[in-house]
Amino acid sequence: MDPSKNYLSICLLIFLAWTSAGVDGFAPLGRLRQSSALVGNRLYFFGSAIIVQARENFFLDVTLSTLNISNPLWFSSNASVPTNSAFASACVGGPNKNTIYLLEHLNTSNAGTNNTIVYAFDTVGGIWTTLTTSGTLPASRQQFQAVNNTNGKIYMFGGINGLGVPFNDIFILDTLSSVWTQGSSDSAPTARSDFSATLLNNGLILYIGGGDNINMANIPTYNTNTGAWSTTVAVGDTIDPRSGHTSVLSPNGHVIIYGGAKNNSALDQNQQLASLDTTNSQLYLLDTRNYMWVTDTLQQPNSTTSPNPSVTQIQTIIASDSNTLSTGVIVAIPIVSIAILAIIGFTGFWLYKRNKQNDIIRIAGSKGGH
Ligand SMILES: *[C@@H]1O[C@H](CO)[C@@H](O)[C@H](O)[C@H]1NC(C)=O
Ligand SMILES: *[C@@H]1O[C@H](CO)[C@@H](O)[C@H](O)[C@H]1NC(C)=O
Ligand SMILES: *[C@@H]1O[C@H](CO)[C@@H](O)[C@H](O)[C@H]1NC(C)=O
Ligand SMILES: *[C@@H]1O[C@H](CO)[C@@H](O)[C@H](O)[C@H]1NC(C)=O
Ligand SMILES: *[C@@H]1O[C@H](CO)[C@@H](O)[C@H](O)[C@H]1NC(C)=O
Ligand SMILES: *[C@@H]1O[C@H](CO)[C@@H](O)[C@H](O)[C@H]1NC(C)=O
Ligand SMILES: *[C@@H]1O[C@H](CO)[C@@H](O)[C@H](O)[C@H]1NC(C)=O
Repeated sequence: MDPSKNYLSICLLIFLAWTSAGVDGFAPLGRLRQSSALVGNRLYFFGSAIIVQARENFFLDVTLSTLNISNPLWFSSNASVPTNSAFASACVGGPNKNTIYLLEHLNTSNAGTNNTIVYAFDTVGGIWTTLTTSGTLPASRQQFQAVNNTNGKIYMFGGINGLGVPFNDIFILDTLSSVWTQGSSDSAPTARSDFSATLLNNGLILYIGGGDNINMANIPTYNTNTGAWSTTVAVGDTIDPRSGHTSVLSPNGHVIIYGGAKNNSALDQNQQLASLDTTNSQLYLLDTRNYMWVTDTLQQPNSTTSPNPSVTQIQTIIASDSNTLSTGVIVAIPIVSIAILAIIGFTGFWLYKRNKQNDIIRIAGSKGGH
C-alpha cells in the first residue's frame, strides 16, 4: 500500500489561525484540511477536518495596503458550505471569473454518486449550488489538488479513494460548459496524494512532493497547453521529502513551499521555507517533445539553516536543464508574504496542538485526522 495513505492521519498541513480578532470582524478558530480560494481582494476559506467547523465559510480581506498582519480583518459568511468539507480543493472560474468551485472529497452527504461532487459558490450573490456536470466524471477522492487557469479550466490530479488507494489520473473541468474530460495518462507520474500543485504562468503545472518515497527533485509537470506529462529535475539544495505542504507562486516566478510532514509524524514538519526558481531555468522554454532528464548534480553554496524560518534563511533550489548553469539565488519576495506564511504555520501549529482533542471528521482509511 502506498505510504502516503498514512498521511491521512496527519493534520498539521494547511493551518490557519490568528490569535486576535479583527477590528470589526471575528477571529476564526484554528483549523486544518480546509480549502481556500482568492477572488478579488477576498481570500475565502471553506471547511475544516474539525467537524464543528466543517461547514464554515469565511474570508479575509487581503487588500495589501490595509492588511494588518497582527490584526487581520476577517468576515464571516452566512452561506455555510453545503456539506461537511475537508480534504477538498477550491478553484475559481465561471463566466465572470468570480465563482468558486469546491471539488469535494469522498466524505460528502451526497451518497447518490461515487464521483467527485462539485459545489459552486457565487461570490457575488453568496449562493451555493450543486453543479450538474457531464463528460468523464472523476471518481470521488480526497487529498488531491486542483488548480485553475484564467480561462475557466480546472485541473484536478491524484488523491486517494476511500480505501486509501491513490490515483494518478488527471481530469479537466471546463467551468464554462460544466464538462469534465480526462487528461492523458501517457508518462503520468506514479499515484500519489498530499502533494502540492502550482500552475506557472507558462501553463505548466508542477506537482511537488507527496510522500517519503517521492524525491523533491523529481517534479512531474503537466503542460496545460499540450496536455502532455513530463518530469523535470531540480538541482541545488536537497529538499526533504514531504507531504501536506503548501506551495505558492510568487510574482517573480519562485514556487515557495512551506511545511508538510515526513516520516508519518505530525510533529516532524519542516519549518524551512524553500523556493524553486522557475525563472532561471528552461521550464519556461521547455519543449516537452525534446525533454531530457538532467544528470548534473551541481552543488549549491551551503545554505544557512536554522530551526526557525526567516527571510534570510530561505533555501533555494534551482530548476535547470543540463545546459543551464545554476547559481544560488536568495528569493526577494514581499516580506509580507513571508510573514503570512510564518504566522499561518506557527500559530496554526500552536492551535493545532490545542485543538487536537476536538472532534475530527472520520474518513475511511483515516486515523481520525491526527
Ligand atoms: C495593527 O494591529 C496592531 C494590533 O491591534 C496595532 O497595534 C497596530 O497599530 C496596527 N497597525 C496599523 C498600521 O494599523
Ligand atoms: C448573517 O446573519 C446575521 C443574523 O441573521 C446578520 O445580522 C448578518 O448581517 C448576516 N451577515 C451577512 C454577511 O449576511
Ligand atoms: C463523513 O463520514 C462520517 C463517517 O463515515 C459520517 O459520520 C459523516 O456523517 C460523514 N459526513 C457527511 C457530511 O456525510
Ligand atoms: C459506489 O461504490 C460502491 C462500492 O464499489 C458500490 O457498492 C455502490 O453501488 C456505488 N454507488 C453508486 C451510486 O454507484
Ligand atoms: C484562477 O482563476 C481566477 C479567475 O479567472 C484568476 O484570477 C486566477 O489567476 C486563476 N489562477 C491561476 C493560477 O491562473
Ligand atoms: C526518517 O526516516 C528515515 C528512514 O527510516 C530515517 O533515515 C530518518 O532519520 C528519519 N528522519 C527523522 C527526522 O526522523
Ligand atoms: C559546506 O559544507 C560542507 C559539508 O558540510 C563543508 O565541508 C564545507 O566546508 C562547507 N563550505 C562552506 C563554504 O562553508
